[in-house]
Amino acid sequence: MPEIAYVNGEFLPLDRAMVHVEDRGFQFADAVYEVLRVYDGRVFALAAHLERLFASLMAIDLHHHFTAETLHSIVDEAVRRSELVEAVVYLQITRGCAPRHRAVPPGLNPTLVLTVRELEPPPATLPATGVALETVDDLRWARCDIKSVALLPNVLAFERARQHGADDALFVDATGQVAESTAGNIFLVSESIVRTPPKTPRLLAGVTRDAVISIACEQGLACREEEVHRDDLATADEVFLTSTTSQIVPVTTINSRAVGDGQTGPVTNRLYRAFLEFLSRQ
Ligand code: PDD
Repeated sequence: MPEIAYVNGEFLPLDRAMVHVEDRGFQFADAVYEVLRVYDGRVFALAAHLERLFASLMAIDLHHHFTAETLHSIVDEAVRRSELVEAVVYLQITRGCAPRHRAVPPGLNPTLVLTVRELEPPPATLPATGVALETVDDLRWARCDIKSVALLPNVLAFERARQHGADDALFVDATGQVAESTAGNIFLVSESIVRTPPKTPRLLAGVTRDAVISIACEQGLACREEEVHRDDLATADEVFLTSTTSQIVPVTTINSRAVGDGQTGPVTNRLYRAFLEFLSRQ
């Protein structure tokens, strides 16, 4: 049964999976989610994703009965049933169904939705050309550390960047601080020092971000979690993005200006190779 879904206790083919129109996830984006990656039939960093999911649920006061063990076994079972070896698991928990009103009625049953979809295995090397980013004003809410499904600003920013010929948008706030892209964390490399913005409510604390920081340290690279200003982008030797689905992605152009020499840099390549090696050790 490839490409399957799980909805409130039932496994079924993805194209038959449905939720109620009065689900608060649909009506209000009253829901949080996780995206997990399956390598060779095994879910990567499941514990870290579940920890962040529980933090998101707590941050929005979503009362639920799920334990890490329950979710762990549902994810494992879904992956097993899908028979996919390279896949992406999407997991969403909504506050549940109720007649549409802002007020949260007591006794709601949260909705749990999970999908498993196929993913192309990653190439062994990074593309030399990388991706182009366009900076956009960060118009999102002040709790981007919560993995909320309310992603309209991300959708609009992504689309706008694409219309302007870029591959993705990079959120920059009114003071010039760089946050993250529409679905990934950002890293800069300047004189072999690796930098990424610190964990604050302005960005999502990526699971891949944490892995890359520890890999950079293992590699003997200086790695700093510190504010990145828009001006730092122009002087960086290398820039890359990290996320569960795309691992490490070199950024070679920002606002139509080349980053460094406009090619994927040596530190990015080194971290990517080390990341693949790290995966093989999991
Ligand atoms: N995106 N920042 C944002 C806004 C994200 O949506 C994501 C993840 C990340 C990176 O987090 P992680 O390394 O834990 O995947 C950072 C997922 C993949 C998505 O929405 O598809």
